[in-house]
Amino acid sequence: MKKNKSLVVSILSIVLGTQLIFSQTHNIQVDLKKVGSPIQKTMYGIFFEDINYGADGGLYAELIKNRSFEFPQSLLGWTTFGNVEVRTDEAPFPNNPHYIRLSYPGHDEKQTGLDNEGFFGIGVKQDAEYRFSVWARLPQENISGSLRVELIDPESSVFSTQKLTIDSKEWKKYQVVLKAGKTEAKARLRIFLASKNAVDMDHVSLFPVDTWKGCENGLRKDLAQALYDLHPGVFRFPGGCIVEGTDLQTRYQWKNSVGPVENRKLNENRWEYTFPNRFFPDYFQSYGMGFFELFQLSEEIGAEPLPVISCGLSCQFQNKDDKAHVAVNDLDPYIQDALDLIEFANGDATTKWGKLRADMGHPASFNLKMIAVGNEQWGKLYPERLEPFVKAIRSKYPAIKIIGSAGPSPDGKDFEFGWSEMKRLKADLVDEHYYKDPQWFLANAKRYDNYDRKGPKVFAGEYACHPKNRKNNFESALCESAFMTGFERNADVVYQCTYAPLFAHVEGWQWKPDLIWFDNLRSVKSPNYYVQQLYGMHVGTNVLPTVENKLPLAGQDGIFASSALDKNKNEIILKIANTSKEPRKIAYTINGLKTSERKGTQTIFVSTDMDAENTLDKPDNVVPTEKEIRIPGNKLEVELAPQSFNLYTIKL
Ligand code: AHR
Repeated sequence: MKKNKSLVVSILSIVLGTQLIFSQTHNIQVDLKKVGSPIQKTMYGIFFEDINYGADGGLYAELIKNRSFEFPQSLLGWTTFGNVEVRTDEAPFPNNPHYIRLSYPGHDEKQTGLDNEGFFGIGVKQDAEYRFSVWARLPQENISGSLRVELIDPESSVFSTQKLTIDSKEWKKYQVVLKAGKTEAKARLRIFLASKNAVDMDHVSLFPVDTWKGCENGLRKDLAQALYDLHPGVFRFPGGCIVEGTDLQTRYQWKNSVGPVENRKLNENRWEYTFPNRFFPDYFQSYGMGFFELFQLSEEIGAEPLPVISCGLSCQFQNKDDKAHVAVNDLDPYIQDALDLIEFANGDATTKWGKLRADMGHPASFNLKMIAVGNEQWGKLYPERLEPFVKAIRSKYPAIKIIGSAGPSPDGKDFEFGWSEMKRLKADLVDEHYYKDPQWFLANAKRYDNYDRKGPKVFAGEYACHPKNRKNNFESALCESAFMTGFERNADVVYQCTYAPLFAHVEGWQWKPDLIWFDNLRSVKSPNYYVQQLYGMHVGTNVLPTVENKLPLAGQDGIFASSALDKNKNEIILKIANTSKEPRKIAYTINGLKTSERKGTQTIFVSTDMDAENTLDKPDNVVPTEKEIRIPGNKLEVELAPQSFNLYTIKL
């Protein structure tokens, strides 16, 4: 009995003690009198890679798969009927030499034609318009031939149709607009030969008329808008492992991605295969959204462009043999590609590559300021290749910042070696990657507190928190919000960061987690998206010291906090995550702020369900809410909800 009594007493004291700790107020001092280091405009950005059908089948609004009949089996994605022939003689586009001849099948009751399955089907919306175009010619000396173009549903019912007359024996572009009679996520495009005269066809294309910014070779509007709405400061592209390629031949070669879209050489996508056993034999890069379009998108979404180029190493995960890479002595064409890329972005129209950019419709410079050489590279193979790039770029373009890689892991032997080599080579920034679990993210919020301030700056070029099942759930977003206070607090050494990857088609993903998920008609922003957006919309211009008992808040009692001043908006931004399961009382004192009442906002991102996700059917399951508040002076007292990310703005 005595024993039981003392047990009860000790349990009670633990409970009371815990309550005492929980109800304790955290007094946080924010110092407006000691404005800290500048926060780069590039601080919070995005990383785009053609993975998970992010480009073809995703952001790039083309609806036809294998539009140039160049997939290794020329008709992959197409079903043919009647008299259809693949040919290569007198092809209109030398880099994509295959085309199709449709000929009369011999009997009036039979038909010749083909239909395209799109990317997991073709998504069309009722009453929306779709621009069909095709390069065609009459192979014989005929006056005219004709095609019938239809949108059909999975039951083969036609819900939109148009006719095209082909009137020349020279290759010419023809186009017609189809209006969708209904909404259908899994439509197909069917093309019939509608004349006895044969017709040759190449580059068959179907785009929504209503693309982002109305461009004909345009981007899917909802997806591009979602990028714009993130307010990204920097835009890293085009990869990722696809920069390196499954082998050198299939690396991303930017020169193949510019010029007339019909003549851009098709490339195999390194993501056609992922472990374990996810194989996408039809995953190719049409390069329809190539470097010109990616630079243009950077400009449109207000982000600094950051191209990544091959350093002569093919994907190191896939290629263990040194012979799979370019020998150091043979790097010249790779280095030339880097120099030419800078000329393409910034050179005027008197230069070869600047002229191409101007001819493509952008006479003004894209104002490129930085370039990354290599993606996730490691070992001594990397610095010995990076070195000649650095020499050549520094000598021709001294103002361009060079980003080097610290490899695929955020610590360990290769990481340490990578960093020391980047210091030796005086890289301007070092690209760190980490895909880690929630515990790692919380434990690493102090990661940058003790980084060397004199060496290269940090670019967290790929990072995402994921629980065991790699879901984009609320827990992962909350941990990222907490971790990112460490980016902000260390803005003197962390210059930019980009969550990865951006997009995933729900039927075609190879990698999780991802910021934005989509199908053929809809898209959904993950909880992680909203964290990125809150940071992107509230970057601030300078760090404000934020401490409790003179220490930064990086996990004490589950609290992570950072603050910034925005000199342009004339406001203070307070970011604070409570990762504990209990509410937390916070009393902010803003030293240096006059005590009069002022306006502000309070944004709360919270869920009681750590596993909560946003889905295509329930896109708003977890979203932040914002309201206006009044701040009674230089003090702000709040109670943070359990497991919540909170953001306050205070007008000065
Ligand atoms: O983001 C997916 C992949 O993760 C990238 O291609 C690569 O850089 C990293 O390993």
